[in-house]
Amino acid sequence: MRIVSGIQPTGNLHLGNYLGAIRNWVRMQDEWSAKGAQCLYFLADLHAISMPHDPVELAANTREMVAALVSCGIDPDKSILFNQAQVPAHVELQWLLNGTARMGWLNRMTQWKDKAGKNREGASVALFTYPVLQAADVLLYQATHVPVGEDQKQHLELARDIAQKFNNDFCAEGAPLFTLPDPIIPPEAARIMSLRDGSAKMSKSDPSDMSRINLTDDADAIMQKVKKARTDPEPLPATVEGLAGRPEANNLVGIYAAMAGTSPADVLAQFEGKGFGQFKPALGELLVETLSPMAARYRELRQDGEALDAILAKGALKARDLAAPTLARTYQALGLVRG
Ligand code: TRP
Repeated sequence: MRIVSGIQPTGNLHLGNYLGAIRNWVRMQDEWSAKGAQCLYFLADLHAISMPHDPVELAANTREMVAALVSCGIDPDKSILFNQAQVPAHVELQWLLNGTARMGWLNRMTQWKDKAGKNREGASVALFTYPVLQAADVLLYQATHVPVGEDQKQHLELARDIAQKFNNDFCAEGAPLFTLPDPIIPPEAARIMSLRDGSAKMSKSDPSDMSRINLTDDADAIMQKVKKARTDPEPLPATVEGLAGRPEANNLVGIYAAMAGTSPADVLAQFEGKGFGQFKPALGELLVETLSPMAARYRELRQDGEALDAILAKGALKARDLAAPTLARTYQALGLVRG
């Protein structure tokens, strides 16, 4: 079993990033590395250049993201933690797979359609071939399982299609080169919404800092944000159906459930009939308990650029070793002579 996943480096990480992806990575690491499976987690910095970006910011975000991942529990001794840019095999394999991926397949990608919008002519070529790089990311390591959010499912299906076509076109019967990876989509990867508006996703770009819980927030800030979170005046209902039409209440209950590792139904069973005056302090304490130690580590680690670079360098070394055999076999399968 080999687990591979990537995340784009963004700054100002918040609760949505933690519950959406990072926590799941940590769980898989702890569960599977104990059973001898290898986990590879990388920062998709090469993907980040598919949209207009600021180079200084990208470099800073890459280091911040490493700090966040390690603070949240990714252990560079258990998992291979690296950034794509230090493992050129990702780019090489992408080019090799560009011969197999079809224009029609990429044209159907909903993320491409969404991000390019009406201005396809002006979109970068990188944005269009983004899913081929993503396929290379996982096929390079013979990934068996790829934890991702629901929005990445289509890209994973494309990776399977590319692998299958390549195996068909260039490999002897019964000797496929690429493993077909399975996506793992955590059921509880709840969409964490803004604390000010239950219909908008929690986002680092929301102008109001009160809308999100940052991974850098201390206990006081967390408590204050939860207490000031927008709600309605009704007490909590007995069942999940009772949350319909109450997006803010639904969001807070969802956050509680995700943090406590239970379901919204269980949370409501516990808090049925209670008002937010009681629920919010309980939620705040739960958040503080889990996030405060991470936040403390994060604030410290993000100051130490050298340590962060050392973590990435060490991860890249291991990733390059693991990637080499598959890359070599791919060149060979395509008839590319390399001496
Ligand atoms: N495209 C993914 C996202 O935006 C990030 C990513 C890049 C990724 N390469 C990957 C995820 C490979 C899983 C596997 O979330």
